[in-house]
Amino acid sequence: MLKGKSILLGITGSVAAYKAIDLIKGLKNEGASVSVIMTGASKHFVTTMSIEIAASPGPVVWDMFETRMAHIDRPRNADLFIIAPATANTIGKYACGIADNLLNAALLAFTGPVIIAPAMNWRMWQNPMVQKNMQQLASTGVITVGPETGPLACGEEGQGRMAGIETIIEAARKVFTPQDLAGEQVLVTAGPTREYIDPVRYISNRSSGKMGYALAKAARRRGAAVTLITGPSAVNVPDGVETVRVETASEMQQAVMQRIGDSSLFIMCAAVADFAPEATLPEKAEKSAIPSLKLRLNPDILLETSRLAKRPFTVGFSAETGHNIARAKKKMSDKKADMFIFNDVTKEGAGFDSETNEVTMIDGHGETALPCMPKEEVAAAILDRITSLKRGG
Ligand code: C5P
Repeated sequence: MLKGKSILLGITGSVAAYKAIDLIKGLKNEGASVSVIMTGASKHFVTTMSIEIAASPGPVVWDMFETRMAHIDRPRNADLFIIAPATANTIGKYACGIADNLLNAALLAFTGPVIIAPAMNWRMWQNPMVQKNMQQLASTGVITVGPETGPLACGEEGQGRMAGIETIIEAARKVFTPQDLAGEQVLVTAGPTREYIDPVRYISNRSSGKMGYALAKAARRRGAAVTLITGPSAVNVPDGVETVRVETASEMQQAVMQRIGDSSLFIMCAAVADFAPEATLPEKAEKSAIPSLKLRLNPDILLETSRLAKRPFTVGFSAETGHNIARAKKKMSDKKADMFIFNDVTKEGAGFDSETNEVTMIDGHGETALPCMPKEEVAAAILDRITSLKRGG
């Protein structure tokens, strides 16, 4: 998303200024070029040399009168302006159209998208003047990320920490992503479920949750309101995604049934455990009791949603051992899904825990085999196909 983009980064005088080095590195890792304007105050918190090394090539500028026309040239050549960290002072001046330093002048000369990542003490952040300035900026389309709540440099706790680097970079990716899922309510399930034998032991399916989380993140990036119903997973929850944590298949079933009526797209990516013990023992069982464990079939959530009078566009997954596309097609027809994603988990680079996946998309028009690629790219390709099918193509 950020490959070849030219990003202008403004660094202001907050203690979080040192984090700008990681932000620059992160943006450059995505293939963007970064040019930096600092304020005089920010130089107390991070050296120009550190920033210059991180952002090289290209000098860092801060002095309006030593760098003639930088306040025009730099914004003219940028695709996106990010202010991180953004102090109350710079925010206030920007909201009022003041241009008393190079950074604020460059902000006024910039006509493209602006992201600001405020960082300050929680009392400053809550100050009505700061909030009014934030509203003023939001009303002109400026995008805000954070601030987050947690321990602050002053030793207090509260809302004021600069948003995490990945959160800022994700906001930047979103700026360059067509918002073709704006207005959609997307419901995604991810991860495994756990069916408890006793408080210590459970039956489950193999699943890291990575594919479902990638789908939720990709849908959010394209402008959808996303709810993620997830079984236990160690993957970080994507920003801006409403997350419902469940453990068992019946909890997942309940969570899906509660929300599916409000959804326009339902992606059932979870690896729901097919069986559960007939009863969960209240105490840890003797080992000798386990071999005679009696199982029952779990509810089939996808099948159950097919019986609803009104169901959103529905996508199921079929993880198989071997090239058993016929089985995936049968599932798609039994569960009356609009689309099914088949993958052979025995293939190298596909399936559980892997960062990549190799899938075939099946829909009413036929099959599309995708090459092995990162799960984020697989998610984007699946959403491309869904949007095209929803539009009737
Ligand atoms: O029949 P099978 O379990 O292989 O079908 C896979 C699809 O059905 C997946 O989309 C999975 O999330 C969903 N599923 C379900 N409820 C189950 C088992 C699977 O919704 N109990």
